[in-house]
Amino acid sequence: MSMLQDIQEVFYSQEDLAQIANRLGHQISHDYKDRNLLIVSVLKGSVIFMADLMRSITIPCKIDFITASSYHAGTESSGKVSVTDELSVKDVHGYDILIVEDILDTGRTLQKLSDIFNKKGAASVKICTLLDKPERRDPSVRIKPTYVGAEVRNEFVVGYGLDFDQKYRNLPFIGILKPEVYNTETQNEEESH
Ligand code: PRP
Repeated sequence: MSMLQDIQEVFYSQEDLAQIANRLGHQISHDYKDRNLLIVSVLKGSVIFMADLMRSITIPCKIDFITASSYHAGTESSGKVSVTDELSVKDVHGYDILIVEDILDTGRTLQKLSDIFNKKGAASVKICTLLDKPERRDPSVRIKPTYVGAEVRNEFVVGYGLDFDQKYRNLPFIGILKPEVYNTETQNEEESH
C-alpha cells in the first residue's frame, strides 16, 4: 500500500521546498553575519526542513533540538503544549536563538518556546517557520515569525516532516491529505472508545 493514494494534491514539490530552504538560508546567513547563532529545531515536525535549511546557511552556527508537542492523534490541537526534551545547551545567555518550525498554526507552541528562551536570558529569539497558517492563529498569541517559507490555507497538509497521526512525515513533498483519511481514522477512534 502506498502513501500516495492518501494525498489529494501536491502542494509543494521537492523543488519548491529546496528553493524555499535556500532562500531562507541565504537571508539568515546575511542577517546573522556577526551574531552568535544557535538554531533550535523543534522536534519532530521540523527535522527535514532543519536538515535542508542548515545546509543553506553559510555562516558558523550551532544547532540544538527541543521536543514540543501539542497535537495528539487527531487533526486539532489539544491546546496544551508539552515540552519534553530540553536543549543540550544549558546556558543560552549570549546566544541569538532562531527557532525552526515546520508549521505555525495556533502559535501556542512557538509562544511557549519563545517565552522559555527569553526568560532564560537569550540575547535574541526569532522564528523561522516553513509554513504559516495565519488564519488559525490564537488571538492571545503575540509572537510573529521573522522568516516564513510560505503561507498556507487551512488545509491538512502532510509530508516533509509534517504528520497525521505520526505518519506521512517521510513523504519528500508537502501534500494535502484526503479528508476521508482523517475522517475515517477519527471515526474508527470514536468507535473504539
Ligand atoms: C506541530 C508543529 C508545531 C506545532 C504547531 O507539532 O510541528 O510544533 O504543531 O502548532 P501550534 O502553532 O498550534 O502550536 P506537533 O505538536 O504535531 O508535534 P510534532 O512536531 O512531533 O508533529
